[in-house]
Amino acid sequence: MKLGINVDHVATLREARKIVDYPSPFKAALTAQKSGADSVVIHLREDRRHIKDTDAILIKKKLKISLNLEMSVNPEIVDIATRLKPDKATIVPERRQEITTEGGFDLFKEEKKLVKALKKLRKSGISVSVFIDPLSSQIKKAKDLSIDAIELHTGKFCEAKTEKSRKYQFQRIYRAAKLAHDLGLFVAAGHGLNYKNVKKIAGIKYINELNIGHSIISESVFLGLPEAIKAMRRLIN
Ligand code: PXP
Repeated sequence: MKLGINVDHVATLREARKIVDYPSPFKAALTAQKSGADSVVIHLREDRRHIKDTDAILIKKKLKISLNLEMSVNPEIVDIATRLKPDKATIVPERRQEITTEGGFDLFKEEKKLVKALKKLRKSGISVSVFIDPLSSQIKKAKDLSIDAIELHTGKFCEAKTEKSRKYQFQRIYRAAKLAHDLGLFVAAGHGLNYKNVKKIAGIKYINELNIGHSIISESVFLGLPEAIKAMRRLIN
């Protein structure tokens, strides 16, 4: 199973002081690469609250492993992506007031904007994934739109307060992953995964990749980033 490391939270720490380059998400990306990550994930938000254009450019220029750019379908961001040329673009919903990405992207509601973005991104040779809730309707729609990768939102599973709801949310992810796999899609999953809950999701054989940010960057305060990444990798394996 592949592991993508989201380094946005290193930029969040930098922005807490509004200083130029410390701590550096670029250094974190290179450290992730050295410590066994398969890809680096960054989210260039419309409000640039953490990752900036300059971070994205520098990371893309020097990174040897895959770069996955999380992005909205806003035409300005799509144009930036077509120039940046990340290996993969993951389309996420974006609301200015949210603390983090709250729900999945709705392929039905946003179809018009998505189709326009897909056209431009594909023309630039960028592979596209969509971050969606674990719903069969969304997965089938992704297939209909000829999207070849999806990322399942694991937030509800991770935040479940009771064992019953945890089991229910797990089943939703399991069934969604199986359906997507059976349809021939590349299946990623992420959001809220941590050292306690990752094993259960990593056990789903239909999932190809996990994308994890907050827990690994947080644990790096105590362990250092290389060890925090290796500890997560051990759990996933
Ligand atoms: N995948 C997507 C699409 C996300 O938006 C995020 C959060 O930026 C993550 C994975 C990682 O979530 P977390 O930081 O909770 O591990």
